[in-house]
Amino acid sequence: MDKNVVWHQPTVTRGRRAKNNGHKSVILWFTGLSGAGKSTIAHALEESLYQLGANTYVLDGDNVRHGLCGDLGFSDTDRNENIRRIGELAKLFIDAGIIALTAFISPFQEDRQRARDLVPEGDFIEIHVKCPLEVCETRDPKGLYKKARAGLIKGYTGISSPYEVPDNPEIVIDTSVRDVDQCVMEIIDYLAAKQIITPISQELTVNG
Ligand code: ADX
Repeated sequence: MDKNVVWHQPTVTRGRRAKNNGHKSVILWFTGLSGAGKSTIAHALEESLYQLGANTYVLDGDNVRHGLCGDLGFSDTDRNENIRRIGELAKLFIDAGIIALTAFISPFQEDRQRARDLVPEGDFIEIHVKCPLEVCETRDPKGLYKKARAGLIKGYTGISSPYEVPDNPEIVIDTSVRDVDQCVMEIIDYLAAKQIITPISQELTVNG
């Protein structure tokens, strides 16, 4: 960064936005294999939060790769850069008072840690969307596992590129044994327990 670039302190702060919005803002970082259900759970959770009146936005791998990250492929270096940009973007979203839900494979522990380190402790909630590779492969919603097995896609996560399981995620949901609604409820319960949202009588109130 150029040394003549100076940070401008806004008067509308994150705290003031939270007060207006009636809830805190956090990053809900979904990680897991392709086909594990990250996007499905993130969008279903967003629907529930929206109905509760929360300001949310889903950053989804497949969509973001059409625009902001359209210049990136799937080499380790490109995945590092993809996750770096998403970490910075999610940080801006929470500064804007929005609950940011990110749905990226984000296969590398170091990249996820770097994204976590960008924001204050407690604001990065890592959700491991756990699902055995065999189940993801059976689902194969985009037919990409089949192509990867046939050698048509190189470096496919879980087949020919690694997925590093999170060491200590805040939440683990196993989509091979629970349905979407159960997974969503589990996350809502966590957010309420941490007083990020307080769904009392279908209303959200600020805590702290
Ligand atoms: S990440 O590794 O950089 O976090 P990201 O979540 O953005 O990946 O994109 C993953 C999506 O891209 C998958 O759901 C799949 O549809 C598609 N994809 C295409 N090629 C690959 C690949 N080689 N490995 C994994 N996913 C791929």
